Amino acid sequence: MVRKTLIAGNWKMNGLLEDGIALAKGVAAEAKKAARKDCEFLICPPFTLLTSAKKAIKGSRVLLGAQDCHFDGKGAHTGDISPLMLKDLGCQYVIVGHSERRTDHHESNELIAKKAAAAINAGLKVIICIGETEAEKDAGKTIDVCTAQIMGSVPEIATASNVVIAYEPVWAIGTGRTPTAAEVEEVHAAIRKVIGKKLGRANANKMRILYGGSMKPSNAKELLALPDVDGGLIGGASLKVADFMAIGEACKQ
Ligand code: PGA
Repeated sequence: MVRKTLIAGNWKMNGLLEDGIALAKGVAAEAKKAARKDCEFLICPPFTLLTSAKKAIKGSRVLLGAQDCHFDGKGAHTGDISPLMLKDLGCQYVIVGHSERRTDHHESNELIAKKAAAAINAGLKVIICIGETEAEKDAGKTIDVCTAQIMGSVPEIATASNVVIAYEPVWAIGTGRTPTAAEVEEVHAAIRKVIGKKLGRANANKMRILYGGSMKPSNAKELLALPDVDGGLIGGASLKVADFMAIGEACKQ
């Protein structure tokens, strides 16, 4: 089963106009030179940079995504951004359910499923994030937690063409620590099984499952070579053109 590798940069709350544009332009220029023509590059800048980033990557193979959305198309939701607005702006992707949103904004699986469904209905592809905390890992609950998050936050209308799962152990995000390659593969394979139960075997075989959490040039090759790892959701290392592109060069296929 060939699944197109996705190398996604999650810029989080980083970037003012000048450096954001420079970063997007840098990624676009390097992506043109990248040897791997068969993997997708995606950048997810903060809302404030989406329009400028879109201009900066115009004509390149780099795709544009946002980091969150509301579940309504429009209306009285001060400060929120709807999936339709993101689509209108030229986004192809949106991330939902990142652990920082689950924690900082108390987002539940149910809310994340609503956001994901709304984004799909608006014509966006959705990256749904899941992952266990350190305490949950220590208690041996990693697979149980991921199973519950998939069952609760992946909407019924999800298919392999409109949803990507990102497995991001919370304790690995921004810490420099990662699970072993064997642990990552074990969890990814388990996630694929759960997706199979929820959405059927065909979707499970085709759906991309990204690894996220301290992915960097030095560990990307080993992680991206794992059979059930179909790309990366990259935070810190996506803020440097060279690091992000080095991860892209490490992708399989
Ligand atoms: P990190 O973040 O690469 O900085 O660990 C990944 C993420 O939170 O998506």
